[in-house]
Amino acid sequence: MRFYKASLFHIGILFLLAMSSAHAYQHAVAMPDSYSAKVAQQILDRGGNAVDAAVAASFSLAVTYPEAGNLGGGGFMLMRVHHHDWFLDYRESAPAAAHRDVFLNDEGNVIPFASLLGPKSSGVPGQVMGLWQAHQRFGHLRWQEVLAPAIALAEQGFVISPDLVEVASWYSGWSSDKGYTNNFNTYFGNLVVGERLVQPELAATLKRLARDGVREFYHGETADLIVAHQQQIGGLITHQDLANYHAIWREPLSVDWQGKRVVSAPPPSSGGVALIQLLQMAEQHQNPLQTESHNSAQYIHILAELKKRAYADRAEYLGDSDFVTVPIEKLLDPAYSQQRADEINLNQPSDTEAVAPGLGPWQESEQTSHFSIVDRWGNAVASTFTLNMPFGNGWVVPGAGFLMNNEMDDFSAKPGVPNLYGVIGNDANAIAPNKRMLSSMSPTLVIADQKIDAVLGTPGGSTIITSVFQTLLNWYWFDMPSQQAIDATRVHHQLWPSQQIGFHPSLDEDTQQQLRDMGYQVEARRFFGDMQVIKRQADGTLEAASDQRGRGESRVWPQPQ
Ligand code: DON
Repeated sequence: MRFYKASLFHIGILFLLAMSSAHAYQHAVAMPDSYSAKVAQQILDRGGNAVDAAVAASFSLAVTYPEAGNLGGGGFMLMRVHHHDWFLDYRESAPAAAHRDVFLNDEGNVIPFASLLGPKSSGVPGQVMGLWQAHQRFGHLRWQEVLAPAIALAEQGFVISPDLVEVASWYSGWSSDKGYTNNFNTYFGNLVVGERLVQPELAATLKRLARDGVREFYHGETADLIVAHQQQIGGLITHQDLANYHAIWREPLSVDWQGKRVVSAPPPSSGGVALIQLLQMAEQHQNPLQTESHNSAQYIHILAELKKRAYADRAEYLGDSDFVTVPIEKLLDPAYSQQRADEINLNQPSDTEAVAPGLGPWQESEQTSHFSIVDRWGNAVASTFTLNMPFGNGWVVPGAGFLMNNEMDDFSAKPGVPNLYGVIGNDANAIAPNKRMLSSMSPTLVIADQKIDAVLGTPGGSTIITSVFQTLLNWYWFDMPSQQAIDATRVHHQLWPSQQIGFHPSLDEDTQQQLRDMGYQVEARRFFGDMQVIKRQADGTLEAASDQRGRGESRVWPQPQ
């Protein structure tokens, strides 16, 4: 009887608590496809936390979102757990046999497509190590439990979407005449919309991972399969490279901005540095930016000018901070941002050549996937991972069933020569054994009053940074609801190609003409990311949204206590 009364008392208290702050018990996910959304929801409903859901969803995406990988790729996970921010770097690293000139011919010129489709285009995969470490540190559920949904999806298959068929046939066509072979078509050449894709080799790999944990990937049968394949095609990755691979816990970068704290990715991503610079520079021009009509020619011009400066610095100073000195403090100094922002002419584009990196010469002394999760305890995960291109270098590891990345293209193969995304780099991002290639991936959190205010991120190569930046402005300066904030036309500029502004999906003809009159070239882009976001509303409830550009799905649901 005493127990009965006590229970009733507790139930009453919990009911009152739930009524008084219903939002405290919401879960929210914004995922790149419906399968990962369902898996994340199942894991959270079963008592898992945001990190369990992130790990389970990442493995599921390895099955249902093969264009982004991900067992053969790498990524970043930005987490807020127990009111503290954590950043886990599981970016690929260059194999020990890689060197500065590995993609140059005898004349010192870049060998076309070698870093994208050639046998040496893969970095040492970091994904499985990252997911393992995130789970080891913060997971509640058992490792086998978080892998189970992915295994079921690989064994039983999933329904092939029109998006997947479109990107697979594009990749197959694009990669066919570049002078390199791969086995892409054997695995993904005959996808039919509405049919099921069953992946027995991948299912077997996931089962081994479930049984034996991370050792299996870096020391076990999977390692043997990777290395045998590398040897067969003339790749660089060895058993030693796999055994040496480590994920790294890093301090995330953060800035106080507009009364909130924005937290984002440190090197080897360029994302956090560039995003913080952009936010600080934008603050210098808050008026007119905030009073201009959104996406007017003037607005786009000012953003382009800020982006020129951020990307000039990116090209010169950013690289793996474990290998080169990245002057982060100087780059993020508000006084420096102010000085850079003051340089711009509000009405006229600066000459591309005249926009130099702001600290003087550096001195030594479109497929990725992003998702956002918030759990009922207020923990959050923003995770972005990639093979680099959709389907990486097109090589599926025979017997293991997963694609290998072509992340080596994110290094600067030669100073000043643009990579796939048209971004240039310098010595700071030169290739070196075991070094991580520079990334633009920018998983980002916004904290207000010690609580998660927003979780966001996107794929999109070098456009990632400007997409995240514009979404923050759309929310905080233009009060757009989340769906509108991410569906709105985004514009991109990155210093080079000179005066070129890309947009997606549309920009009215008048605005385009005004920009042309100012000296810009304006062009529609085919891809422009796939934002997956969660935002807290004024009443404390959560809102989640998935970009109209992708096949994502977002959900917010109450969690009864
Ligand atoms: O790390 C990076 O910045 C790139 N490898 C990301 C590639 C990407 O986002 C492709 N997505 N569309």
